[in-house]
Amino acid sequence: MKKSLFDQIESIVANAMIAAGLAIDFKPKLTYSTKKEFGDYQANGILPAAKQLKINPRDLASKVIEKLDKPEFISKIEIAGPGFINFFISKKWLSKSLSSLKSDVDSLIPKCTNRKVIVIDYSGPNLAKEMHVGHLRSTIIGDCLSRVCSRLGYSVIRQNHVGDWGTQFGMLLTHMSDMKNQGTAIKTELADLEVFYKNAKKHFDSDPDFAQRAREEVVKLQSGDPTRLKYWSEFINISLEHCFDVYKRLGVLLSKNDLKPESSYNSVLKGIVEDVRAKGLLSESEGAQCVFLENFKGRDDEPLPIILQKSDGGFLYATTDLAALQYRSYDLNASRILYVVDIRQALHFEQIFALAKKASFVKKNCVLEHIPFGTMLGKDGKPFKTRSGDTVKLNDLLDESVERALKVVTEKNPNLDKIKRSDIAYVVGINAVKYADLSKNRKSNYVFDWDTMLSFEGNTAPYLMYAYARIQSIVRDAGEVKVNDITINESEEKDLALKIHQFREILNKVEQDCMPNYICQYVYELAVNFMSFYEKCPVLKAEPEIRDSRLALCIIAGHTIHLGFDLLGLKILNRM
Ligand code: ARG
Repeated sequence: MKKSLFDQIESIVANAMIAAGLAIDFKPKLTYSTKKEFGDYQANGILPAAKQLKINPRDLASKVIEKLDKPEFISKIEIAGPGFINFFISKKWLSKSLSSLKSDVDSLIPKCTNRKVIVIDYSGPNLAKEMHVGHLRSTIIGDCLSRVCSRLGYSVIRQNHVGDWGTQFGMLLTHMSDMKNQGTAIKTELADLEVFYKNAKKHFDSDPDFAQRAREEVVKLQSGDPTRLKYWSEFINISLEHCFDVYKRLGVLLSKNDLKPESSYNSVLKGIVEDVRAKGLLSESEGAQCVFLENFKGRDDEPLPIILQKSDGGFLYATTDLAALQYRSYDLNASRILYVVDIRQALHFEQIFALAKKASFVKKNCVLEHIPFGTMLGKDGKPFKTRSGDTVKLNDLLDESVERALKVVTEKNPNLDKIKRSDIAYVVGINAVKYADLSKNRKSNYVFDWDTMLSFEGNTAPYLMYAYARIQSIVRDAGEVKVNDITINESEEKDLALKIHQFREILNKVEQDCMPNYICQYVYELAVNFMSFYEKCPVLKAEPEIRDSRLALCIIAGHTIHLGFDLLGLKILNRM
């Protein structure tokens, strides 16, 4: 795989520094130029280097340029301002490069040299309840990352660490057996898990006898009582059906094969605790088995425990996670493990990662990363809730989005047949919710706003889908098209061609930083470039040769948007 333009320029600048006899620890600090007159790429590293060398930055810049090994793809190099170096990409070279691409945009995806295993832990809902908006981010961010990593050539293993064990199940099973004794059909009862959970909780909180039975039920379940296990698995299976229903609507890749529930680690938890004890890391605190790691202190500087076993013998979230780490590192042979989990669990992951390394639950060179994300907020700036203050079920959210999308689509296309409008609205509705989320910097909270996400203007799914459909309609109108040689003359043609080329530059960054929003930003800029190209450069009405070249550019731009959508886990339509 050829290196991207970005990487190549960066390394020729670094080499030129060395060739100029200035082998300091130098960073070219390459960026995209912000203004046309500054070219396409800009090296900002000369200023700090000159400061360090105590020489005039413009003099240093010209020394570097003198030694610079100018590749074919650069048409011009200039010094700007106090000592920036600007690089202009050659139109001729871009014409050649895009022509040789034909329409195979897949070749824009860099391939990794080492097919290492990346485990991605995402979605992981708690099965006691129905999936709600809190599960959206993990599910779609994780899904996008898993698509990107597999396309880059890594061996990706998805792990859906669903919460199917723990004390709530005692309460649910008690309610379930009460219902059964009353002769109620459980399947109907569980059609709405939220209501079922609420009813169980009501009994648990108000009826001491129920609460007592619920506690006994947990003990029986955990000791492997066959009747309890049967009820439990009945519940879990129905709950999983709900999840897979949501996955299907969201178009995420998770399948039954990716399930690795908490309960699957039950049999090894005791051994985990013994292992930690044998390594001399375990201490007892108020009857519980805990680990106190040096660097973890709470308020008032008191040591912060990782609790592995409660005084009643029960194991915890952390214990299961240690078992999962061991499985992923040793059995799945992961080189890198990503946890796409809410930022509020940051401390939990810091602690178990530190313990896992210390107690060798993972191999030495296994990289562990928490990929945190913020909360989805309502317009009032508070966590997104229904009017009555309940959590919003993911299914309801998607219903509403499709409904709203239908209104928008109808406004835009009142004459389109109703079935077609609904089909379009379905894709627009789901895409809008996903795109609004994926396009934000995942580390921050964001405000969920129907009007912006369904708008046909700005960095939104409908805008991009519209741009894509526009391209497809041009291609349809052209009749038969051959993707022939591309000749770039106009500056809008160049901007579009260069942008297409730069697809190479972002995917590795997405993989390294685990930031899906880089793809969104890229596809958005590409669509904007396309729209200005289309405005300035007639396609179908141009002279035959220019027409063919521009059509080819349209086709490749379309393929690139399509590829971006695939990687984000979004569907695209040829007509809107
Ligand atoms: N079930 C957890 C929750 O709902 C998320 C699981 C994340 N994965 C993990 N290995 N801890 O918060």
